[in-house]
Amino acid sequence: MQHFILPAAARITAIETDNYRTKTFVLDARLDATPGQFVMAWLPRFDEKPFSLVNADPVTLMITAVGPFTHLVHTLTVGETLWLRGPFGHGFDAPATQRRLALVGGGYGVAPLLWLAQQQLARGAHITAILGARTAADLLYVERFAQLAKTLRTGELILQIATEDGSVGATGRVTDVLAPLVTQGAIDGVYACGPHGMLTALESLAQSAGLPCQLSWEAYMRCAIGICGACEHAGQVLCLDGPVLIH
Ligand SMILES: Cc1cc2nc3c(=O)[nH]c(=O)nc-3n(C[C@H](O)[C@H](O)[C@H](O)COP(=O)(O)OP(=O)(O)OC[C@H]3O[C@@H](n4cnc5c(N)ncnc54)[C@H](O)[C@@H]3O)c2cc1C
Ligand code: FES
Repeated sequence: MQHFILPAAARITAIETDNYRTKTFVLDARLDATPGQFVMAWLPRFDEKPFSLVNADPVTLMITAVGPFTHLVHTLTVGETLWLRGPFGHGFDAPATQRRLALVGGGYGVAPLLWLAQQQLARGAHITAILGARTAADLLYVERFAQLAKTLRTGELILQIATEDGSVGATGRVTDVLAPLVTQGAIDGVYACGPHGMLTALESLAQSAGLPCQLSWEAYMRCAIGICGACEHAGQVLCLDGPVLIH
């Protein structure tokens, strides 16, 4: 298990297509990391961008093609190289006193949550995973969560889906699914990753119910080591103090 201070070459050993604009890359690297931490992926002479670890052993990244860097990564094939620095930042840290956890993912924010679910199920937690997207085609990792639910040895996993257009699961947003569970007192802590609007809504829902929550915030990152200030958010540098903040 390692920590790469300088970019280290990692060969792509497998690629899976998750949806029309998202692929999962497995790399021949192993890192000492926790769910919610991220790496900087570099393509020499092009750019370097942050990605959550889907897993650290082997390093696995889910990459949605949204711009120049991610489109270029999508052209890579098995056997080619991606350069990695990291892991960086603070991940999720669920205390043992919380038994019933809501794991909430919006869009590619689902990336760090499967590993978090596996980790928490291993200690016998009861997980409600709520995966949301605009429409069915944008959903990610539903099958991976469903597979995890089928192969459980310890703990309990309930999977809920929300799409804004109602094409799969509940019609609406992840907060619409979570709110009644919070009202019923069925949740001890909220763990989420996704777009800022979703996180802000979850933060106020959790705060109004007096529930602890840990949210993974996205920001533009350059150095990833607390020097450049690119990732400043509410007085904190997210590459060091986050990306997961405890609220
Ligand atoms: C801690 C962290 C973890 C991340 N994990 C993942 C992941 O697991 N999978 C994944 O696909 N992406 C993830 N991202 C986002 C990823 O880094 C960006 O999508 C990437 O920078 C896009 O690069 P690009 O050159 O392809 O597109 P860009 O041209 O850089 O961006 C394309 C579009 O996305 C917007 N955008 C890009 N980055 C950000 C950002 N940080 N905050 C808000 N808007 C942004 C831009 O405004 C633009 O509209 C993560 C980001 C952070 C900070
Ligand atoms: S990316 Fe430079 S301070 Fe966070």
